[in-house]
Amino acid sequence: MALALATRSSLIAPSATLAMGAEAKKLKARGIEVLDFALGEPDFDTPANIQQAAIRAMQLGQTHYTPPAGISELRSAVAELYTRQHGLATDAAQVVISNGAKHSIHNALMAVCGPGDEVIIPAPYWVSYSDLVKLTGAEPVILATPEESGFKLTPEQFLAAVTRRTRLLMINSPSNPTGVVYSRDELAALADAVLTTDVGVLSDEIYEQLTYGDARATCFATLRPELADRTITISGVSKTYAMTGWRIGWAVAPVSVAKFMGDLQSQETSNPCSISQWAALEAITGPQDSVAVMKAEFQKRRQYVLERIKGLPDVTCLPPGGAFYAFMNVSAHFGRTIRGRPIKNSTDFCMAALSEASVALVMGSAFGAEGYARMSFATDLKTLEKGFDALEKFLAA
Ligand SMILES: Cc1ncc(COP(=O)(O)O)c(C=O)c1O
Repeated sequence: MALALATRSSLIAPSATLAMGAEAKKLKARGIEVLDFALGEPDFDTPANIQQAAIRAMQLGQTHYTPPAGISELRSAVAELYTRQHGLATDAAQVVISNGAKHSIHNALMAVCGPGDEVIIPAPYWVSYSDLVKLTGAEPVILATPEESGFKLTPEQFLAAVTRRTRLLMINSPSNPTGVVYSRDELAALADAVLTTDVGVLSDEIYEQLTYGDARATCFATLRPELADRTITISGVSKTYAMTGWRIGWAVAPVSVAKFMGDLQSQETSNPCSISQWAALEAITGPQDSVAVMKAEFQKRRQYVLERIKGLPDVTCLPPGGAFYAFMNVSAHFGRTIRGRPIKNSTDFCMAALSEASVALVMGSAFGAEGYARMSFATDLKTLEKGFDALEKFLAA
């Protein structure tokens, strides 16, 4: 008899962004040039000073197990970063270093959610949130935030969704996939609503340094003194320092939650890569000039993308205030047939764009928002130009 899978296996689907990236890779392997805007990862090399720190760590023999929650130097540096830059008094005991922010989110959810619990997730949401919640046995409660409301959750919406079972609200500003950045006042209003309940908050701030124009990221836990005890802040080095492959993220949490997360890691993965931890320490404590350079480049690409979207027939886009995504409204094309392919939804749209125009996007449905296609602009301008040329032809067909 074949080995049966646990019932848990039905709870998760492969990450749609990674799946789309894999489809694109298959075409590439067949020699087809794919204009790949599916993956959310900076195309820059990791800055040289960070690479050097990793080499130094190896040469110094820092290649052994570390404490499960991370080396004390990095935990202290993260605590210092929050204390100094964000104004959130943080102790190193509140910081847990994990294998990327995704792992931090998983462990944070494992710490506070379980069967019978509900977790409120505003949609559009990052692909992994709902599946990570389901893995804990808890139930994701998805609240649609329409484009007309700027893709933002309102305090009224949140309060109307709270039940006796609600454990957590997950928020993500700047947002993947919409690029939406809540203003400080909007988050403060949400914070006040949260404080009238017993609900905790998981604030995913991984794109905190990538904002454009007047938009500014806000560290949610700093908004009201009472929030520190019930907020888990997630961030890491992947996006800011072009370090997606190094796998270092962190959580700043109440001490009891951080303690459990560390214990969980001690049984589950042990420490995150020792070399990556030393590299991450250099990333956050070393010179920051490369961050400004990468940000300026993203800013240029964002401008270019917004200009070119105006030239796409029947496609609109709310300008992203942060991150590196354009969440394009493509719903006007539903009901059409493009190059013989009927387009009924965002999956049809993205699949047709891939096979007919060799342009890889991610369907809005993967983010809980039908009607959209996400384009990552963490790609060079030349590729963006080719991509828009191809999309223009595809939509005019
Ligand atoms: C909103 C959001 N949170 C977390 C992550 C995960 O980051 P990491 O690569 O550090 O696991 C991503 C990556 O795409 C993301 O977009």
